Amino acid sequence: MSSDQAFSTLLEFVEDELGFATSHYNESYLDRRVSSRMRRTESDTYEAYLELLEDDAEEQTALLDSLSINVTGFFRNPDVWEGIRDVLRELSKTRDSIHVWSAACADGREPYSLSMLAHDDPEIDESAIHITATDISEPALETAREGAYTESRTVDLSEQLAFLEEYERYVDHDDRTYTVREEVGQNISFERHDLINDDPKSGFDLVICRNLFIYIDNEYKQSMLETIAHSLQPSGYLVIGKAETIPPALKTAFAVTEGRLRIYQLEDTATQTAARLE
Ligand SMILES: C[S@@+](CC[C@H](N)C(=O)[O-])C[C@H]1O[C@@H](n2cnc3c(N)ncnc32)[C@H](O)[C@@H]1O
Repeated sequence: MSSDQAFSTLLEFVEDELGFATSHYNESYLDRRVSSRMRRTESDTYEAYLELLEDDAEEQTALLDSLSINVTGFFRNPDVWEGIRDVLRELSKTRDSIHVWSAACADGREPYSLSMLAHDDPEIDESAIHITATDISEPALETAREGAYTESRTVDLSEQLAFLEEYERYVDHDDRTYTVREEVGQNISFERHDLINDDPKSGFDLVICRNLFIYIDNEYKQSMLETIAHSLQPSGYLVIGKAETIPPALKTAFAVTEGRLRIYQLEDTATQTAARLE
């Protein structure tokens, strides 16, 4: 069997037997993740790794963990959070209640950052902000609901939180663990949502969906953004990851608000445009 064939067979096994939709992700990303597990298990070929994977439940879990791309942080890309602050301030001027969707929220640090920012900024009324935070991964959502994060050698949580001068008002700190205070979680509801297979939501003034599209095959990227477009209010805002782009077919649906920060606004006619593309 050629190496390409062996890789395809391996991906088929992961999709059919382990339930991870490999076909939605781009191949170079999948290859990097699989190759890293192959190094860890000292498997020289895709075939050898597949053989091991078939019989080893622990390795199946390890591979699935490594595929679910859960890197995140509080106030990731601080300049983008200044842009998000501006959007929330702008929305606060005209709305009594503001609905925000943190889509693909990973372990919850993104929606907690949103809530902390709302509590911290005098121009934003935190009681008006309602955050829906979703992810495909149940383990990630479990951590998110707990709201407790532990520092490691490579992750400096106080540095991440330092975006807010007095972040101690929003987290309890015990040795290396930071626990988000109850009031910060009160306006957030966590639920599972798969951006590829589940239905759109509705009525959001702002959707933040960052650092997922980079891993996704182009074909699915467009349908995910259509799901998001359908979930936004007319003129609602969208924030994507700094290394991400809107696919060409959807460019007319979103007006650029702050290009460098990847902040967009749904064009008034965009709901129709998105519908036409279906
Ligand atoms: C790299 S994290 C991004 C977290 C956060 N948005 C950020 O920028 O820090 C990507 C997240 O996407 C989630 N994910 C992967 N496929 C998904 C899908 N089809 N629908 C929803 N979430 C998905 C993963 O579980 C992971 O938590």
